[in-house]
Amino acid sequence: AGAQNKMNLDFNNAEQTINKNIYGHFAEHLGRCIYDGIWVGPDSDIPNVNGYRKDILDALKELNIPVLRWPGGCFADTYHWKDGVGPKSERPKIKNYFWGGSIEDNSFGTHEFLNLCEMIGADPYISANVGSGTVTEMVEWIEYMTSDEDIPMANWRRENGREEPWDVKFLGIGNESWGCGGDMRPEYYSDLLRQYSLYARLYGEGKFERVGCGANGSDYNWTDVLMERAARNMDALSVHYYTIATGDWNNKSAATGFGEDLYFSGLKNALFMDELVTKHSNVMDKYDPEKNLPLLVDEWGIWTDVEPGTEPGHLFQQNSMRDALIAAVTFNIFHQHAERVQMANIAQVVNVLQAMILTEDDKMVLTPTYHVFNMYKVHQDATYIPELLQTVSYEVGGEEIPAVSGTASKKDGKVNISLSNLDATEEQVIEVDVEDGNLTRVLSASVLTAPDFNSYNSFDEPETVKPVEFSDFKIKKGVLTVTLPAHSVATLQLQ
Ligand code: AHR
Repeated sequence: AGAQNKMNLDFNNAEQTINKNIYGHFAEHLGRCIYDGIWVGPDSDIPNVNGYRKDILDALKELNIPVLRWPGGCFADTYHWKDGVGPKSERPKIKNYFWGGSIEDNSFGTHEFLNLCEMIGADPYISANVGSGTVTEMVEWIEYMTSDEDIPMANWRRENGREEPWDVKFLGIGNESWGCGGDMRPEYYSDLLRQYSLYARLYGEGKFERVGCGANGSDYNWTDVLMERAARNMDALSVHYYTIATGDWNNKSAATGFGEDLYFSGLKNALFMDELVTKHSNVMDKYDPEKNLPLLVDEWGIWTDVEPGTEPGHLFQQNSMRDALIAAVTFNIFHQHAERVQMANIAQVVNVLQAMILTEDDKMVLTPTYHVFNMYKVHQDATYIPELLQTVSYEVGGEEIPAVSGTASKKDGKVNISLSNLDATEEQVIEVDVEDGNLTRVLSASVLTAPDFNSYNSFDEPETVKPVEFSDFKIKKGVLTVTLPAHSVATLQLQ
């Protein structure tokens, strides 16, 4: 078939850096994300390094995780950090009210989180408790984590075994304050943001960025009110958006075994991220036309029904080839908005929602989404090359989306191009005009595809969906021609 899909790369206008933090992650005290996922404790039979699962550490290091958000989510606004420091035998047990009522022993607290960040090379993003906490509790936490002076909280940290302060880069002022973080109106939250932010800056001495709690999906009024009343009281503003394949929060549909209708609607609803980010950014432009204030999508991903037989409050779901494509198209959108979107944190890193890794006892699988993060890590901190994409449509049930999605960036004298074919059944030929980039050869290429669009990796068959070397391309006279199999993602490196 002749190429009806064409991508033109505008090398002359490649200026914007893709902030590596777009490839950020999120670890909440929820289900088996922390306990049993990341943390098994030093006495566990599961191989571990000081209590952290060894296989998880290795898999996370491989991803070059730039930033990790913790301890929630909804959990953050119930969390009292002092419960999680000091001798483990003296730490109180707590009930995780939002997530299945689990009883937690607080063996994973501030030290364990911040040390994990150091071990995997990620910047910490702490979510402070505004919903049920106090300013005092927050500023004491700030002193505990970041002060190197002779003051009580820093000394308490030293007593607890850590001499040097940690390098905390981001502090969230509450989470979903419109919902589980306090059920507030934007007018009221704006005032709290001003109050908490003032002390966060004072006690933090400008060491970290303060993130204002952003809107619930397309609640543009929330963004408007916050920008009008508190733009100068934050260093970034967030937003949360989850993909629901059915569009119905009460009936999200299963993570596996779905048909083409839910494959299609999952992708279509994920593509809404473009409109969402554009509109929030337009509202921000009213108050910040220079785009100085970053927008952070600090929760995103597909949310399905839980796996049958698992605790509904633990949000444990499988992850399919569809979800890998959702990750790829979402990154392509974030790249296009690189000027405004400076961070994103997929929910979540292990065993929760669109996870990178799933565990069961001592077994672990890397999900299709993990592989996309790994294939896309070449774009971290690279220069975005704007693309003009002409593509055929992929139609299901009278609705259509583009069949092809793609992105490109350059770094260290090399150009990386990522292309996705969203079509469930047809291969797609794509001609990429690379003439202005003086590119003559492909250095490496890999492709992620699967027997079916709903294929996934199970504990028994962990390698059904995994990247392999890709060779279905040619480069001639400034045109790279790529033939992508149905439902696939490829990344090619050129010079
Ligand atoms: O990621 C799961 C939950 O989704 C988070 O705790 C909350 O912030 C959001 O509603």
